[in-house]
Amino acid sequence: MSGPLPTAYRVRDLLVSPAVVLAPMEGVTDLTFRRVIRSIGGAGLTYTEFIASKAVAGAKRGHKWKRMAQFDPDERPVALQIYGKDPKTMADAARVVQDLGATIVDINMGCPSKRVCKSSGGSALMADPTLAVEIVRAVRAAISVPLTVKMRSGFSADNRNAPELAWQLQEEGAEAITIHWRTREDRYGGARAVDKIAETVARLKVPVIGNGDVIDIPSAVRMVADTGCAGVMVGRGAMRNPWALRQIAEHFAGLPITTVDAAEKERVLLGFLANLRAVFNRDKGALGRFKKVANHFTRGLPHGATLLRMAVLTSQTPDQAIAAVREYFTLLRAYESGTLHAFDAALEAAA
Ligand SMILES: Cc1cc2nc3c(=O)[nH]c(=O)nc-3n(C[C@H](O)[C@H](O)[C@H](O)COP(=O)(O)O)c2cc1C
Repeated sequence: MSGPLPTAYRVRDLLVSPAVVLAPMEGVTDLTFRRVIRSIGGAGLTYTEFIASKAVAGAKRGHKWKRMAQFDPDERPVALQIYGKDPKTMADAARVVQDLGATIVDINMGCPSKRVCKSSGGSALMADPTLAVEIVRAVRAAISVPLTVKMRSGFSADNRNAPELAWQLQEEGAEAITIHWRTREDRYGGARAVDKIAETVARLKVPVIGNGDVIDIPSAVRMVADTGCAGVMVGRGAMRNPWALRQIAEHFAGLPITTVDAAEKERVLLGFLANLRAVFNRDKGALGRFKKVANHFTRGLPHGATLLRMAVLTSQTPDQAIAAVREYFTLLRAYESGTLHAFDAALEAAA
């Protein structure tokens, strides 16, 4: 399958442009990380981390969900993602997040975590299509903004039912479906099989977004070519290279591709940590979040896995992490400005 590259798609009358979206990632895509991606550009749509419907609907105590549901006033469009197993609670939660200003309400049917599946939310819904349909019906009746669903290709290798389930959910009012090619059993492993995304694209009227290991221009082009999807969703690749969405969007639009130098990477990484410190009350929380992203980000840098990753991951304070970042980027800048042996001494010391 090969046709034009997608530059935009519509969820009902809502334009998602570029046709590249940032995946929801619990513990990662909070307000601060989404600010990084938005400041770089390339995301036609952002998603919050998944939020427990029980908490939103007030059936469970605690206010953590309010932080998870935060978005900037100019963050448009933004999808607020909820999960759960009870249709009424999901409908109540959907109403609440709609009232908070969600452009889209997204239902999670992909999370493989035991905790979420145990309560029959997330990917467990793929093994219970009747309940999945009931949930979409209840949420659809509760809100007026667009409703979308994110799922996997199936629950298990012998039940890859995404095309059938997605079609049923479309008939109940789901207005776009994102499919991660892995099954729940694959968790984050498995061999790439995007056939169920392609089948779903062929069956549905509403846009289908392709997800799973889209990390750069070639993998994004391949996802579109192999499935005909209306857009691509980028998750872990955005932590490794926050410019990935922008570069993919530029390629889709036939524009020159942004290149990023060491100084810009350092500025973005340190800016992210500063923003985390401003948002989190405690340095410990900010540093924990920073490490999650740095764990991926550093792997995308020359010798980053050796020279920066461990230094950041073992930092006890944000200041230690900042010092490690500065030290590494001093070397990278020297290397980029022609000092080809800049890394030698540090690599020898690390060996
Ligand atoms: C740390 C982490 C947290 C995630 N949290 C969510 C979530 O809250 N909601 C959701 O629908 N998917 C979640 N996912 C799945 C991603 O949205 C995405 O489907 C998956 O990572 C595959 O895309 P990728 O290969 O581009 O990372 C999470 C993935 C990771 C790695």
